[in-house]
Amino acid sequence: MKKIFMILPLILFLIVFSNVSAAEKKAEKKVRKVIHSTPPLDYVGLENPLSGADPKSLPDNDPNILAGKRLYKATCANCHGERADGKGPEAEGFVTPIKPVDMTDPEAIAQLDQGYVLWRIDEGGLDEPFYSAMPAWKDDFTETEKWQIILYLYKNAGVSPKAKK
Ligand code: HEC
Repeated sequence: MKKIFMILPLILFLIVFSNVSAAEKKAEKKVRKVIHSTPPLDYVGLENPLSGADPKSLPDNDPNILAGKRLYKATCANCHGERADGKGPEAEGFVTPIKPVDMTDPEAIAQLDQGYVLWRIDEGGLDEPFYSAMPAWKDDFTETEKWQIILYLYKNAGVSPKAKK
C-alpha cells in the first residue's frame, strides 16, 4: 500500500511534465522571434544614398520604390510575404524554428536604421546570433538594388526607419 503513495506522485509528475513539454514543442514550431544585434562598424550610421526622405512618405510610383518592389516580389516575398507580415508561402517550411518576422511589427525594422538592414541583407542569418534561414544576398544585388529594396521594405511595411544615434 505504501508503495502506491510513492508511485502516485511520480505518475502525476510525469503526466504534467509530458503535457508541458508537448505544449512547449508546439509553441517552438511557431516562433517568429525578432533578434537584433550589433552590426559591424562598416554598416553603422549609413545613409540611404538614393533618398534622404522617410521611405514611408515616398509615392507608390517613385522609380526606386518600383524597382525595390519588383526585386522584393521576386526574391523576398516567398518567405517574408507580399504584405511584409512574415507569412509568405515558404515561411513555414524551415528546419530552424525562427521564422521570418512580421516587418509591420513596431519591434522589427521600425527599430532599425537602414545601415543595419543593409547588413542583414548582405550577411543573412546563417551565423550567430540569428541561425535562421535568411539567405545572404551580398553578391546577388548591386548596392543600388539593395538600397531600393530597403526603401521598399519600409514603404511596404508602413513603418519608418529608426533615426540614427
Ligand atoms: C528563405 C527565406 C527567406 C528569404 C528568401 C528572405 N528572407 Fe529575410 N529573413 C528570413 C528569416 C527566417 C528571418 C528572421 C530571422 C533573422 O532575423 O535572421 C529574416 C530576417 C530578415 C531581416 C531582419 C528583420 C529584423 O527585424 O531584424 C531583414 C531586414 C530581411 N530578412 C530582409 C530580407 C530581404 C530584403 C529579402 C530579399 C532580398 C529576404 N529577407 C529574403 C528568411 C528569408
